[in-house]
Amino acid sequence: KQRTVLLATEKAFAAGAVTKIESVVKAANYTLKKLENYKGKDDLLAAVEGADAMIIRSDIVDAAVLEKANQLKIVVRAGAGYDNIDLKACESKGVVAMNTPGQNANAVAELVFGMMIVSARNNFDGTSGFELVNREIAFYGFGAVARAVHKLAQGFGMKSFAYDPYIPADKIKEMGAEPVSSVAGLFEHQYVSLHVPLTDETKASINKALLSKMPKGGTLINTARVEVVHEADMLEVLSTRSDFCYLCDVAPKDIEPFKAAVGDKFGKRLIFTKKKMGAQTAEANDNAGVAAANQIVGFFEKGETRFSLKA
Ligand code: 3PG
Repeated sequence: KQRTVLLATEKAFAAGAVTKIESVVKAANYTLKKLENYKGKDDLLAAVEGADAMIIRSDIVDAAVLEKANQLKIVVRAGAGYDNIDLKACESKGVVAMNTPGQNANAVAELVFGMMIVSARNNFDGTSGFELVNREIAFYGFGAVARAVHKLAQGFGMKSFAYDPYIPADKIKEMGAEPVSSVAGLFEHQYVSLHVPLTDETKASINKALLSKMPKGGTLINTARVEVVHEADMLEVLSTRSDFCYLCDVAPKDIEPFKAAVGDKFGKRLIFTKKKMGAQTAEANDNAGVAAANQIVGFFEKGETRFSLKA
């Protein structure tokens, strides 16, 4: 059957990745329809009609989109986090939803270290900074991304700690990190790196009580989702502790008060990206995009449902 796969990406993939996605789709005799760099939801709503499958990134797939998507059987989030997909609405429409876990883990890990180095070297302003060797980093969540960061941390001679409610302590130990028994325990270390999904439980969960526990030079690294951090609390900690740093992949929702709080130390104590950049590398775009296309073909041709998500 001639199927149509819609690539709907408000933040476009690198052109090379799109070419590779197109080859996978064409090899299966399907058609690729592209909606890249679109500006508003109306564009998406218009494009989904007639699509049998969709490849998305952080694009919102909610009940309204599903309503218009009259032919849709499967949506694949090319990436890890799927808080942008209404899984209940997918389920009630009989649409299978999947992600592509691990495909952009290395890209995110390299961004974590990029931000840590800019911060440790005072945004390259000519003053003496410090080295990462022998310092401690604690991971909240120890999935593919955290493990990729941990691997780099080992290369840097850092000591890793981790807490993950779904991974037993002995497994964490096996992977060369020191298990921590609670979320709060993570905040005894200089660096805390967030690698949890955005859920009702994690939303705004990184609050003043946790952040205040961090030792001198305490630095929170957030390449998960901006909403996981309690922003009013973060603002307060940044304002009252001149040693505290927040390194974040995407700016906090209301950035101006944050900039004011860090004053002239902006660029060391507060680092953020304009758009979510963790997965924005040619390699991650290739990996996640091609995996998504292959999962769609596997689903239609062989009934494969690996990586399908539960509401
Ligand atoms: C992910 O969850 O995979 C990352 O946050 C990447 O998101 P993006 O595809 O919107 O860059």
